[in-house]
Amino acid sequence: MSETVLCEQVDRVAILTINRPDKMNALSEAVRGEMLAHLARLESDGSVGVVVITGAGEKAFIAGADIGEFAGRTPFDQRWAMRSPRIFDVMASYPKPVIAMINGYCLGGGCELAMSCDLRVASSTASFGQPEINLGLIPGGGGTQRMPRLVGAGQAMRLILSGDRIGAEEARAMGLVELVFSPEELRGKTLELASRIASRSPLTLKVAKEAVRASERLSIEDGIAYERDLFCLCFSSSDKEEGVAAFLAKRPAQWTGR
Ligand code: COA
Repeated sequence: MSETVLCEQVDRVAILTINRPDKMNALSEAVRGEMLAHLARLESDGSVGVVVITGAGEKAFIAGADIGEFAGRTPFDQRWAMRSPRIFDVMASYPKPVIAMINGYCLGGGCELAMSCDLRVASSTASFGQPEINLGLIPGGGGTQRMPRLVGAGQAMRLILSGDRIGAEEARAMGLVELVFSPEELRGKTLELASRIASRSPLTLKVAKEAVRASERLSIEDGIAYERDLFCLCFSSSDKEEGVAAFLAKRPAQWTGR
């Protein structure tokens, strides 16, 4: 692996760091390819329960797609660059929880990548936006679909049509991020949360994520029926027997992921 995406592990949490700070961690084709390779490897690594995505340096999480790669591209070139599997969709359907640790500019494809994650934790100095309109483009990483689901159509329209940037507190108030910490606290608090999640049963995490993700595509009636089926499916797992037995015996559960 080259050094465009760094991977480290702290207990059961893998941290992927996009490492192009001189280019504001822009999502080049190479970065997307390396992230896909890391995610594929981490998916089958039983020692990893949660993946955290962040950007190198003080300034940027990800300032969007690599704009340099757009110059002179034909629609055919662009269609090839956007071939499946796409990083945004891989992250949204990833079987393990993925947390965006947003340490600075979170723009365009960076904001779309963050929205593909399960949770977003931001530094109070981070800023957010979909500035594609300024380039004669629209969001192409799922932003027109995922943003309205997170913040409502009105706020999504405002950000996508204006290209305006907003700060972390405003992003939190509208539901674009879940938690905001000072830059000094960001890593520690994010890893605390990630480790807590990673200490749960990997099997049950996968089912819980699947159920919540289903709410993005199902009607309320179908979603509730699906949840009931998944809930009952949990009764086939050793981890359900263990969780219930541990509660009744007043001891910590020992998960096996089965
Ligand atoms: N793609 C490619 N390169 C990018 C980039 C991107 N999305 N965002 C920043 N860079 C590069 C700059 O070209 C510059 O490179 P250089 O030093 O070789 O000239 C370097 O990163 C630093 O950026 P700079 O603009 O000088 O920093 P800044 O602090 O003044 O501004 C931003 C930071 C993020 C506000 C600004 O870089 C920006 O608006 N980036 C584009 C955001 C965008 O439109 N994203 C959507 C893409 S579809």
